[in-house]
Amino acid sequence: QSVAVLGAPFSRGQKRGGVEHGPKVIRDAGLIDRLSGLDYSVHDFGDLNFRHLEKDEPYMDVKFPRNVGGANKMLSSAVSRAIGAGHTLIMLGGDHSLAIGSVSGHAQQCPDLCLIWVDAHADVNTPMTSPSGNLHGQPVAFMLKELQDKMPDIPGFSWTKPFLSSRDLVYIGLRDVDPGEHHILKNLGIQYFTMRDIDRLGIQRVMEVTFDHLLSRKQRPIHLSFDIDAFDPSLAPATGTPVNGGLTYREGIYITEEIHNTGLLSVMDLVEVNPVLGANPEAVEATASLAVDVIASALGQTREGAHVSIRTQT
Ligand code: ARG
Ligand code: MN
Ligand code: MN
Ligand code: MN
Repeated sequence: QSVAVLGAPFSRGQKRGGVEHGPKVIRDAGLIDRLSGLDYSVHDFGDLNFRHLEKDEPYMDVKFPRNVGGANKMLSSAVSRAIGAGHTLIMLGGDHSLAIGSVSGHAQQCPDLCLIWVDAHADVNTPMTSPSGNLHGQPVAFMLKELQDKMPDIPGFSWTKPFLSSRDLVYIGLRDVDPGEHHILKNLGIQYFTMRDIDRLGIQRVMEVTFDHLLSRKQRPIHLSFDIDAFDPSLAPATGTPVNGGLTYREGIYITEEIHNTGLLSVMDLVEVNPVLGANPEAVEATASLAVDVIASALGQTREGAHVSIRTQT
């Protein structure tokens, strides 16, 4: 079993600087050692080197379209290559616009993948519905086949086409959904669990229904796109768009434990850790070490402990 780690130091999907340092602080919090301590051979692919384009006028209200499009094109081929080589991949962001490249590169190798999106936000705005013009609030709209007619031709994105059906997506953790997004969720009948749903059902039932929805007809590769702002801001303060009332530590870890237990995790994104926005070094460390915990848990670190059985050689 081999795990590849790929950093994507990129922040142009939103307006606040610092989220491009996410890969560094997550590595500094001990990610590689933690994964090596599990039963993997770890391949650290380092960070992608994105080219910055000076001339990048907004398109409609969309900010930095060519930079976001170009970075995601590069990420998409890197992800596709890693999956093609047989690795399980951990993509460290960077802002959540990077999911466009990560999920599309994954889908090139695994067209039947399903997507679990753990986030305070639905990130399914189109350029017409986006209140901010930030592309980190829009990645899912680029993926969904059902939104094809709603998406204009945005400069920088001619390389990608929608590839995901709305029934192959489940959201967990929502609590800040824009009106245009709510319309899309309802209209397409997307399966989602808000924080209120987690309060009502409990996280265990939420995961059961999630896997029923995605895996009952057939087993297929899982793409987990984990926005650190899904967690409560008391646990993950160093992020750009915090929203009160988020996942507890135990709910977050339960989600990733259950995903690991399916044996189907193929790619995980961990995005939106922004060290510049921590009030102090402790806030940044707490956020980064939470990111490491949730990645390790998705890759099989357990709370009950584990041991390798020793066989006597004869
Ligand atoms: N819904 C808001 C927007 O579209 C916020 C999105 C936040 N996204 C994120 N990946 N943190 O601008
Ligand atoms: Mn290898
Ligand atoms: Mn979010
Ligand atoms: Mn997000």
